[in-house]
Amino acid sequence: MEFPNGEHSRELLQAQAHIWNQIFNFINSMSLKCAIQLGIPDVIHSHGRPMTLSELVDALPIHHTKAQFIYRLMCILIHSGFFVRQKISENDEEGGYLLTLASQLLLKDEPFSVTPLLLAMLDPILINPWHHVSEWFQNDDPTPFHTTHRRTLWDYTCHEPKLNHLINDAMSSDARLVTSVVARDCKGMFEGFNSLVDVGGGIGTVAKAIADKFPHLKCIVFDLPHVVADLEGTENLSYVGGDMFEAIPPADVVFLKWILHDWSDEESLRILKKCREAIPSKDKGGKVIIIEMIMQNQKGDDKSIETQLFFDMLMMAVVTGRERNEKEWAKLFFDAGFSDYKITPILGLRSVIEIYP
Ligand SMILES: C[S@@+](CC[C@H](N)C(=O)[O-])C[C@H]1O[C@@H](n2cnc3c(N)ncnc32)[C@H](O)[C@@H]1O
Repeated sequence: MEFPNGEHSRELLQAQAHIWNQIFNFINSMSLKCAIQLGIPDVIHSHGRPMTLSELVDALPIHHTKAQFIYRLMCILIHSGFFVRQKISENDEEGGYLLTLASQLLLKDEPFSVTPLLLAMLDPILINPWHHVSEWFQNDDPTPFHTTHRRTLWDYTCHEPKLNHLINDAMSSDARLVTSVVARDCKGMFEGFNSLVDVGGGIGTVAKAIADKFPHLKCIVFDLPHVVADLEGTENLSYVGGDMFEAIPPADVVFLKWILHDWSDEESLRILKKCREAIPSKDKGGKVIIIEMIMQNQKGDDKSIETQLFFDMLMMAVVTGRERNEKEWAKLFFDAGFSDYKITPILGLRSVIEIYP
């Protein structure tokens, strides 16, 4: 290939830069993971005022030979929006580091912390399958996760407490944020009902918050037996172990947060049919509440679309699921025998979807 002149060579070099950027995209995630593991957001937060580089270096649990490298780590994290540098005094050249809203959401004691999700998703157990995606395209394994670990994600969590805890913690911190919005902005959704079952409810973070907010509601957390083993309920909250493909405990409302995107259309249909069997008929007012993404079909901003595509690829790599657009969701609901649905887009990239028998 001959190197072209003029405009075309400029475009070629831009294309090369674009490829470089894509190749090294993982450096953003890995630098962030490193900062979290070193506790950088917490150290800056505890300092209580802009923190100079030397103060930061002194406070971090690092080997003295590595002090010089912290500046470079902080440069990329400022670029990706996790820290800012602020002048400390008039003649101050260096400035001090401060948190942004994004790094505040990564603090250890922040109730809505996204750190558990970051540590789970960037753990080698969940990263390794990405090295096997092309191999998976050429074999008949159900997922790249299976190609890598020779079992499903849920089998793995059943036998490896480390992954089980990582996933449960990740889901709990997300559940706290979602529940606080839903309980505040969607109160009406839970009124007039006597019972609710949170299917695939993990260790019960969502159901606990709903049970506290609506004491008249009898709540059940339903999940795989190893997830709910040894968990203790309260007056209006109980734990039931089982398999949602077999049967779901009956209740007025079935709640499904981040469940259906884990499963293929065929599997989701089987789950939805079990949900329909678990709730009262149309005239008795049963319903299913789903928290999921609705793919935007290129209508959103660039970053939101890219994030939704990331999730869709993640569902392909680690489980048999997918993200869906409204038409695909509607088809699933009607095929499972539901007659209507309502979407409330109040959760950022996700929505609350109510479906009715
Ligand atoms: C992505 S997590 C979602 C957890 C929770 N709903 C949340 O969003 O915080 C999926 C959950 O489904 C559970 N699960 C997987 N297979 C299941 C099955 N066959 N029956 C019941 N629960 C299952 C997992 O144990 C896990 O807790």
